[in-house]
Amino acid sequence: MRILYVVGTRPNFVKTAPVIGALRERHPEGRHAIVHTGQHYDRLMSEVFLEELGVPAPDYMLEVGSGSHAAQTARTMERLEPVLADERPDLVMVPGDVNSTLAAALTAVKMGIPVAHIESGLRSFDLTMPEEVNRIVADRFSEWLFLHSPEAVTNLRGEGIPEERMHMVGNTMIDTLVALEDRFRAAGSAARLGAEPGSYLLVTLHRPALVDGPLLGETVARLAALAREIPVVFPVHPRTRKMMEGLEPDHPGLLLTDPLGYLDFVSLIADARAVLTDSGGIQEETTYLGVPCFTLRDNTERPVTVTSGTNTLLGLDPAAIARIPGLLAEGRQAPPGPPPLWDGRAAQRIAEAILS
Ligand code: UD1
Repeated sequence: MRILYVVGTRPNFVKTAPVIGALRERHPEGRHAIVHTGQHYDRLMSEVFLEELGVPAPDYMLEVGSGSHAAQTARTMERLEPVLADERPDLVMVPGDVNSTLAAALTAVKMGIPVAHIESGLRSFDLTMPEEVNRIVADRFSEWLFLHSPEAVTNLRGEGIPEERMHMVGNTMIDTLVALEDRFRAAGSAARLGAEPGSYLLVTLHRPALVDGPLLGETVARLAALAREIPVVFPVHPRTRKMMEGLEPDHPGLLLTDPLGYLDFVSLIADARAVLTDSGGIQEETTYLGVPCFTLRDNTERPVTVTSGTNTLLGLDPAAIARIPGLLAEGRQAPPGPPPLWDGRAAQRIAEAILS
């Protein structure tokens, strides 16, 4: 069997690494080709992740880089098509919901190659999010849909996706967390940054709805104010860094850093008092680790992290940042454990499904 994995961004690497590992282990005689689209290209956004996660060097680097949605998607499709023509894979595997996911799914399906989608069925029901469009398209055209939470089944049924395409396997992002737990627990990243474990708020913000417009200025001001009460550690995504030019707040309690590698970042989550984010995956990682998470968005495609996890939706409202100390003081019943099948074995279930 010939399998081709298409990855392009930080979260893609985290979701796909265990699947590549499981399939290579169970099917060593198969062809396992890795394509890196190059959507993320800075060393800290790309190579560091591949190295830490033990992903073999990609067989193809498409180097599509940044651009508008149409330009990035079109470049990926154009450069992927000849690779698929040469490789003639039996299956193209795509993770998540980024532009690389959309481009790879479309290119493959148009060439009559079956597509498998890791992390299928998530919906925010907000079509202004680029990721929502990407997910819907990837799911619509995938032969194999790998799901990680029950609401995905309801969402896909609602779109008329046949039941036999759905496979409830669990969360491959959590597989990576479980596999590297000893290493990130020993990483001690907080201490290296001068933050006291258990004391600080870890912040990540990168969504266009928040950082590409006027809300960013108020958000940064609110974080600087909050830093008087609780230290804030904020590794800044390149997109956010660009938009923050001229806004850099000066407060000793607010520490801005470059993007961090996987082990350093997850170590910071595990040791945080709480996390403030607009990311998807971090809502899941905090739920698994039992760390309170505040999401600065109006909706989430991951409601299981709210109903059975540690996530609280604050709304897309920078003023809500001021509520965090009060919400932490109120405390909240910790969930009894992670959602079902978030157990470190999702990739094994994917491999089993495909190889059987
Ligand atoms: C992308 C995904 C988003 C995902 C995020 C994870 C889409 C539509 N968005 O958002 O769903 O949550 O990745 O991080 O696919 N840049 C660099 N260096 C890099 C990569 C990006 O400087 O290595 C800068 C560039 O200025 C670029 C901007 O970040 O224009 C945005 O990058 P892009 O890949 O378009 O989207 P992300 O915001 O990273």
